[in-house]
Amino acid sequence: MKRSLIVFSLAFLFAACNNQESETQVQTTADEKVQEVNVYSHRHYDVDRELFAQFEEETGIRVNLVKASADELMVRLENEGEKSPADLLVTVDAGRLVLAKNNDLLQPIESEILNENIPGYLRDPDGHWYAQTVRARILVYAKDRVDTANLSTYEALTDPQWKERLLVRSSSNIYNQSLLASIIAHNGEAKAEEWAAGVVNNFARKPKGADRDQIVAIASGQGDVAIVNSYYVGKMFASEEEGQRAAVEQVGVFFPNQDERGSHINISGAGVTKYAPNKENAIRLLEFLSQPNIQSRFAEANHEYPVNPDVESSELLRSWGEFKRDTLNLQALGENNTKAVEIFDRVGWK
Ligand code: FE2
Repeated sequence: MKRSLIVFSLAFLFAACNNQESETQVQTTADEKVQEVNVYSHRHYDVDRELFAQFEEETGIRVNLVKASADELMVRLENEGEKSPADLLVTVDAGRLVLAKNNDLLQPIESEILNENIPGYLRDPDGHWYAQTVRARILVYAKDRVDTANLSTYEALTDPQWKERLLVRSSSNIYNQSLLASIIAHNGEAKAEEWAAGVVNNFARKPKGADRDQIVAIASGQGDVAIVNSYYVGKMFASEEEGQRAAVEQVGVFFPNQDERGSHINISGAGVTKYAPNKENAIRLLEFLSQPNIQSRFAEANHEYPVNPDVESSELLRSWGEFKRDTLNLQALGENNTKAVEIFDRVGWK
């Protein structure tokens, strides 16, 4: 039932969004093929549209964008099979890229440009997917109520001192699923379940809202420490909404687990789909997004960490200082995803 609903809503989405695409197809003739690339994307950031427009201008290759969650897009790819128009699957989580690879939805590609611009640990060893940006899942805290001497690790958030003080979004969110998947990889399933139960025990409220809402909740005194993705902090500082800026100014940023494995990172990334009709254009778009000047745009406009090591982070992120990243193989995020979801269910992390 749920599956058919998803398919229906996507079909509607396509019908609503892709009038332009069908016009393009009408204009296409046998000897004058319009160059295009069809992108199925879970990313939800304005900067992507600007960068796609720049790509279109520089290459003449039209970018057709379909936005939905990675899970919805993967169901769509499965249903479309060989007839899928999709060329690239873009996700905001390595775990979903690993699942897409394991479900045979992606194909391996080779590109010297990608291998040069993206470090080995941020791409699939077989070329099925490549990171576009890096984000850290960090702690933010009420500057006036929390002494940073009391913050240390994700694990320490289960301490009784945080009773009714922790804020975090729902477990249906993939950022949380991948964080728990990483904890399963490091500490084992039993300890990971104890951790999740301990965090639930310290919730300031039932999970609701997205990452930015947790920061707003700290500012309004509903809790003192939240788990959020790094770029949302940056986006709130840069926000045109005064309320967002006022809220984020109340919090400090803390990178957990610095004395040991490092803070959990995840990626936003993409893979060429198995039946991509425009494979070469898809590779060109991936290469374009890995270029230093484009990586700078991700960094400046969206406060994501660049994958390209030659590119600087935004000034704000640089002001937080360097931090130690958990270098766990990102493969583990996909492999432990099901276990993570089951643990969240068992401990009542809604
Ligand atoms: Fe996000």
